[in-house]
Formats: sequence, structure tokens, C-alpha cells
Amino acid sequence: MGYLYNNKENITMKSTTSKSASQVETIEDSALNELFVDELKDIYWAEKHLTKALAKMQKGATSEELKTAIGNHITETENHVSRLEQVFESIGEKAAAIKCEAMEGLIKEGESILEETEKGSLTRDVGIISAAQKAEHYEIATYGTLRTLAGVLGYTEAAELLEATLEEEKKTDELLTQIAEGSVNSQAASEPKE
Ligand SMILES: [Fe+2]
Ligand SMILES: [Fe+2]
Repeated sequence: MGYLYNNKENITMKSTTSKSASQVETIEDSALNELFVDELKDIYWAEKHLTKALAKMQKGATSEELKTAIGNHITETENHVSRLEQVFESIGEKAAAIKCEAMEGLIKEGESILEETEKGSLTRDVGIISAAQKAEHYEIATYGTLRTLAGVLGYTEAAELLEATLEEEKKTDELLTQIAEGSVNSQAASEPKE
């Protein structure tokens, strides 16, 4: 899904002067609100499963720098789960998860990288960073959209919470790039094939 513009004119709220039968009485009745809540349930599932997947990646990582970075992001990810619960509460919805097929696929891909690379190698770290960045990019796309939709729907508190998580996902992605480009990639390049 692409980013939506924060344009209040896009909302089809029924006013007293409106003649259109297709418009909605309240924002809660809108199709956009339904889509927003479904996307929240999707990322709620994804975040919950990511905490376990990141723990496996951290255990499998070789460099201390990568282990520390993933460890810190596990703590943040646990916080993302709680923030989403606050988002659900702020819009009067019960927190619920719907299986996220995309994140399930990304997690499986990360697991196969651990199976296919040599324990203790930096090639394995390159693979872990690649898998972790794919997950972060999925999160960045999702939170970017959700933050903007929250604004469009008039959910100010939710928009702020989603923005806070979005910033942490972006910082994690940048940190992973720094770790890869700092030394992991170049050291991995001299490792032999098994
Ligand atoms: Fe997250
Ligand atoms: Fe993340």
C-alpha cells in the first residue's frame, strides 16, 4: 500500500447540507476506518511474532555489534506491541491480531538464512541484516500509512503513537545499514564457501 496524503478534503463525512446517500454519518462507519483497523490488526500480529523472530536472529548473530542492535530492537518491538494496544484503546477498538501473511513470509525467510549460513560467520550476519531490514521496511511502509490514515480519520493520539514507532523503525533500519557497511560486509567478503 502506498502512502496516502493527509488531506482532510478526502473524508466523505455527511454534513447537514449533504445530499449524497453514499456518504457516512460518522467516521467509524467509513470504509476507510475499517481498512485502518484491519491494518492495525495485521501489524499487531506482525509485531508480536517479530519479538520471537528477532530473538532467534540475535542468538544466531556473530558480531557483538549486531547482537546488541537486535537486542535493543527487541525491547523496542515489545514497546510497539504495547503502543498498538494504546492505539486500539484510543479509537475505542478491542486489540486483536489478524495473521499477517507478509510478515510470516519474511520471518520464514530469516529462518532459512540461519539454516543456510555457517554458525559464527559474518556471512550469516550479512544474511541476518538483510532479513531484518526487509522486516523493518515492511514496518516502515505500514506505520507510514497508518500514521497518515490516523490523521485523516481525526485520531490525533493514535497518529502520535504510530509516528513514535515509525521513527524507531527508521532508526533501526539506518543502524543496520551502518553495521553492514561498517565492517560486516567487507569481512564477510573474505570468507570462503563451505
Ligand atoms: Fe516494530
Ligand atoms: Fe522493527
